[in-house]
Amino acid sequence: MNFKDISEKRRAINFFDAEKDITEDLLGQMIETAAKAPSSFNLQPWNLIVLRDKAAKEKLLPLAWNQPKVVEAPVVFIVLADKGGWQEGHATVEKNWQEMLKAGSMQPAQRDWFLNAAKTLYNWSPEANLAFAAKNTGFFAMSLMYAATSLGLASHPMDGFDHEGVRKAFNIPDNFWVPLLLAVGYPKPGLTLQPAKWRKTKEEIVVSFS
Ligand SMILES: Cc1cc2nc3c(=O)[nH]c(=O)nc-3n(C[C@H](O)[C@H](O)[C@H](O)COP(=O)(O)O)c2cc1C
Repeated sequence: MNFKDISEKRRAINFFDAEKDITEDLLGQMIETAAKAPSSFNLQPWNLIVLRDKAAKEKLLPLAWNQPKVVEAPVVFIVLADKGGWQEGHATVEKNWQEMLKAGSMQPAQRDWFLNAAKTLYNWSPEANLAFAAKNTGFFAMSLMYAATSLGLASHPMDGFDHEGVRKAFNIPDNFWVPLLLAVGYPKPGLTLQPAKWRKTKEEIVVSFS
């Protein structure tokens, strides 16, 4: 499938085959393909909680507007956006720093510059901090959906959930914001999809304020 095929084939699938599981290998391929997504300074401020277990999905169900796909899909991701993913001492920030040194794209003397640039860009206000985490994790989430399609899987993003309820139920630390839940699996046999939804045209998307 080329990209056009993938972007047309991906749909938000409402009903999943509860009998058909996703192998760990396929799930790994999906996650690592999606991880090619770009991010600010390559900081990759995203994580996933992977729910496969029936009890865990049942715990999520009432917190996610009782959307049946939460329990039907073999896998549900709680997608996490790390608001602290720019800070000195954070494991990914430090790994990124070491990788940049190894690759020669940064020199040891540039460490303060690098840390200050990230701090200035991503922590000048609570909104900027949330935007840093959410926009990068949004790119990752979109990549997860396209990766799923490319691997023959179906997915469904959800923001119909109780944010604080999910945070409490799954012991999610305060540095994370939850931009979405993502159900992944195979469509229910015999499922007929609604026609593709409308999209804004190029003319509706492009604006000018001059
Ligand atoms: C961030 C996000 C959150 C969404 N939340 C829900 C949701 O909670 N429940 C739902 O039924 N659909 C949800 N959707 C699905 C959208 O309604 C759907 O993607 C849109 O109508 C376009 O349809 P398509 O994905 O099949 O092209 C969500 C989509 C996105 C991107």
